[in-house]
Amino acid sequence: MHTSAVIIDCDPGVDDGVALLLAFAASDVLKLRGITTVAGNVAATLTARNTCLIREIAAREDVPVYTGCVQPMQRKPVEAGHFHGESGLGDLPIRTPRKGPEALHAVEFLIRELTTAPAASISLVITGPMTNVATAIQRRPEVLRGVREFAIMGGARSAGGNITPSAEYNIYADPHAAQVVFNAGPPVYAFGLDATHQVRATPARTAALAALDTPAAGTARDLLEFANALPANGPREQGSPLHDPCPIAWLIEPSLFEFRRCHVDVETESALTAGHTAVEFRSRADRAQNVQWATRANGDGVFALLTRLLAQSAKA
Ligand code: BDR
Ligand code: CA
Repeated sequence: MHTSAVIIDCDPGVDDGVALLLAFAASDVLKLRGITTVAGNVAATLTARNTCLIREIAAREDVPVYTGCVQPMQRKPVEAGHFHGESGLGDLPIRTPRKGPEALHAVEFLIRELTTAPAASISLVITGPMTNVATAIQRRPEVLRGVREFAIMGGARSAGGNITPSAEYNIYADPHAAQVVFNAGPPVYAFGLDATHQVRATPARTAALAALDTPAAGTARDLLEFANALPANGPREQGSPLHDPCPIAWLIEPSLFEFRRCHVDVETESALTAGHTAVEFRSRADRAQNVQWATRANGDGVFALLTRLLAQSAKA
């Protein structure tokens, strides 16, 4: 069985929470080196706390968590508590986790880990604004040697935006960082809204999770039900889109997604379209085809994977 060495950079976040539960449950395939957290959906202290809480629920305190950047590279912070609740984890009961984050800053961890790892050995999953990763790249460009690929949740083309008419939240929240990551060099697999809107938490799919008796499955169900109840996520029967678990699901089961090669640039300046991802499928001599853009996702398959793995996760 192929295993991947993985670092997850995230901002939990309801769907980041589900992504982490999926990754924690996939310990046969994903060798988690650490989780870095960043300011995004909620403030940096809360995304770190939420990650430690999800880690505790999954009984995976063997995986270290590192707190990262408290604000985007150049813009003012844009939070998304209206989608994720005040705590960032919907209406999940919040407590102080038994084990907190490490003292080392997330950027320092990324630098240490990526400069000492074998070349092209680490899959770096990013499910929040890309501030930590871009800062590490700018500070020590040799971190890129250790990166096998970036698997990112971010961007939108045909689906249009979800925070402005043309921008997806993770890119909008730190477009300068996204521009650095898209153009860094290692392969980028981008799971934007075009793909994640095909993976929806329909009543039948959440009912399958609700039937399981592991803490991880119960937590995933509660997070998804919170998202499904938000009017902004559309009618309940349609189900809310499951964004952040997509890159994790792809690492575990690549056949669940289809991609098209393209060039991606990010609008960093315009007040109207900041965070827009300009996705160019045409092949042009002056532009590297730097990204694999996810065009199709197997929603049934992603939920079947989530349900299967969370059924096997640690019992209370
Ligand atoms: C992305 O934005 C965040 O609010 C979610 O956690 C996800 O990473 C979707 O646009
Ligand atoms: Ca996120």
